[in-house]
Amino acid sequence: MLDLMLRNATLPDGRVGIDIGIEHGRIAALQPHLPAQAGREIDCAGQLVTPPFVDAHFHMDSTLSYGLPRVNRSGTLLEGIALWGELKPLLTQEDLVERALAYCDWAVAKGLLAIRSHVDVCDDRLLAVEALLHVRERVKPYLDLQLVAFPQDGALRSTSALANLERALDLGVDVVGGIPHFERTFADGTESVRVLCELAAERGLMVDMHCDESDDPLSRHIETLAFHAQRLGLQGRVTGSHLTSMHSMDNDYVSKLLPLLREAGVAAIANPLINITLQGRRDTYPKRRGMTRVPELLAAGIPVAFGQDCVMDPWYSLGSGDMLEVAHMGLHVAQMTGQDAMRQCLAAVTTTPAAILGLQGYGLEVGCRADLVLLQAGDPVDAIRLRATRLAVIRGGKLIAATPPATAALQLPGRPAAVDWRRG
Ligand code: FE2
Repeated sequence: MLDLMLRNATLPDGRVGIDIGIEHGRIAALQPHLPAQAGREIDCAGQLVTPPFVDAHFHMDSTLSYGLPRVNRSGTLLEGIALWGELKPLLTQEDLVERALAYCDWAVAKGLLAIRSHVDVCDDRLLAVEALLHVRERVKPYLDLQLVAFPQDGALRSTSALANLERALDLGVDVVGGIPHFERTFADGTESVRVLCELAAERGLMVDMHCDESDDPLSRHIETLAFHAQRLGLQGRVTGSHLTSMHSMDNDYVSKLLPLLREAGVAAIANPLINITLQGRRDTYPKRRGMTRVPELLAAGIPVAFGQDCVMDPWYSLGSGDMLEVAHMGLHVAQMTGQDAMRQCLAAVTTTPAAILGLQGYGLEVGCRADLVLLQAGDPVDAIRLRATRLAVIRGGKLIAATPPATAALQLPGRPAAVDWRRG
C-alpha cells in the first residue's frame, strides 16, 4: 500500500496516462496503469504534472516592500536603487522575516518550491542576512531557499562590502555573489570577479553574479567570469545573472563569447519581467528589449533559466511569485514561439534552474523527492499560455496547497454552462 497515488497524469515530456505512486516522500513508481493501491488517490484527469517551479534569481530581502518608504514614481532602475538606499536604514529584522514568509506563502501556492535569493550584504548590521537565514530554516519543510551573498553597492566600491560578504558566508550563506558592472571602473569590475571567484574556489562554493546588467555593448565582465570559472576549475558552479549587455553586443564578439561560456561551464539566468521594463530606457526608437540572447545561449549548449528577480519592491511593482508568468514573458521577449522552444521555456523555470541550484532528488523519476505540481493544463504550452491554475502542490508526498480550477459560469443561450480554456 503506497501513501499517495496520482492517477492519469500527463508529463512534460509528452507521456500520457501515467500513474505516480508515492511512498515515504519519494516517487516509488511511475508508469501507466500502476496496479498498486494507495492510502489516498488524486485523479489528474489527463492534466499536466510537473516537478515544482524553481526561481533561480530573486531578491527576498526587498520583496513586498512596495511603497516603503515611498513608491518608485519613474519606475526606473536608478530611482529603484535610490529608494532601496532610503529603505535600508529603516528595515527591521521582524519586517524582513514577515515579508519573506508572506512571499514564501505566495510561492508555495503557485507551486514554486525552490528559490535562489540574493541578499544584500552592504548593511554592516547584516540584518537581512540574519533574517533570511532564519527564514531559510523556517521554510525548510516546504521550500528550499538558497542564499547568495550579494554586494549590492559593489564588492570593491563599498568599503565594508567584501568583509561583510565573508561574514555572511561564515554565517552560512550558500553562494558568492557580485556586481562587477557597478564597481567604480571597468578594471575594478574585473578585479572584483577575480577576487570573488577565488573566494568561492577557496570555500568550495558556487558563484552567481549580477553581470553586465546594462545596455552597454562594451560591458564584458561575463568574459572575465568565464575565464576565472575555467582557471579555477569551477565549471558547472558559476552563473551569470541578467547578462543584458549581451543583447547589445556586437554579433562577432558574441560568436566568440558563447563557446567560451560553454567551455567554462557557466550558466545564464535571464529575468524577462524586470529586464523588459528596465532596459532600453535611454533609447528613443528603435528601443532595445534588453534581455540576454536566450535562444542563442541555448543553441550553444549553455543552460538558461528564467528568474523572477523582484516582486513588489523598489525595482518592480508587479509580480506574484508565478513562474509561469515569468516563462510567458520570457517566451515572448525571446520570440521562442517554436514548439520545442516553448517547451524549453517551461524547462527554464523547472529543470534548468533546479540543475543550476544543484537541487538533490529533483525531478520526475523513480527515487526523486515526491515534489509535484498538478496544473489545469494539458501540456507545457497550455501551462504557459494559461499561466495555469495550480490545482495541487505536493511536497514530500503531502498536499501543501490547492487551488480550485479556473472557470466561468456562462449564461448564453445554446452555449455550455461553463467555459473551459483548455484545448481539445
Ligand atoms: Fe537581481
